[in-house]
Amino acid sequence: MSRMLVTGSSGLIGSEVVAYFCKLGWVVHGVDNNMRADFFGAGGDTRWNQRRLAAQYGGFSHHELDIRDRAGCAQLIESLNPAVVVHTAAQPSHDLAAGRPFDDFDVNAVGTLNLLEAVRRHAPRAVFAHMSTNKVYGDAPNRIALTELATRWDYADPHYRDGIREEFTIDQSKHSLFGASKVAADVMVQAPVPGVRLQRQAGARQHSLLGRRARHSCIHRAALERSRL
Ligand SMILES: NC(=O)c1ccc[n+]([C@@H]2O[C@H](COP(=O)([O-])OP(=O)(O)OC[C@H]3O[C@@H](n4cnc5c(N)ncnc54)[C@H](O)[C@@H]3O)[C@@H](O)[C@H]2O)c1
Repeated sequence: MSRMLVTGSSGLIGSEVVAYFCKLGWVVHGVDNNMRADFFGAGGDTRWNQRRLAAQYGGFSHHELDIRDRAGCAQLIESLNPAVVVHTAAQPSHDLAAGRPFDDFDVNAVGTLNLLEAVRRHAPRAVFAHMSTNKVYGDAPNRIALTELATRWDYADPHYRDGIREEFTIDQSKHSLFGASKVAADVMVQAPVPGVRLQRQAGARQHSLLGRRARHSCIHRAALERSRL
């Protein structure tokens, strides 16, 4: 049976990934340490979502692990040998990064590297799907010409009709600390160790997963492709 590891499984996107693949019959292992409550206080507590997933989906197991724990990540991935890793655990706020820059970088950049290296060593055939963000572009999108429509602004150039493409520059742009930690993770996913690439990895630089440009499909495609191997 196909086995998946979802980091940040109690969060907004991670919990949707868990539910989606459990319904397809996958065995889904989740990693979350409720760090969102540490970041945002009681209102950010995600335990209720962890309990909901455990109650609703027999194929779901929770692992209490901090992705900053390098040895713990390696042990878990070695023991599970997942076919797919969907990495959604993160510090997701610009404002919080400004006040806690080391925590932001340790979770977003170093945590991602811990997982990549664990996958490279212990599950090298796994698909690694990374949640990036449009914030990796910094303020460069402000240079794109806009046109005013009846109810909203849109990009003037039809090249951007479906959003900013992933070849758009992330350089020569003013970044927030959050944007910088996400850029670090993003480029490591593309080439985690110089000269040694993972076999299959994908990233999505989404704006909002609730909007019409949602990119769930790339995770699904990657997972299905791997499950057929
Ligand atoms: N929500 C969106 O519309 C959106 C848009 C663009 C990009 N993204 C990206 O998608 C990813 C997930 O976003 P989200 O909205 O689901 O965030 P979220 O805060 O809802 O979920 C993140 C989860 O990760 C967990 N976590 C944080 N640090 C951890 C650690 N050290 N170890 C283990 N678990 C940890 C948190 O407890 C939380 O449950 C992020 O990388 C974010 O940048 C989201």
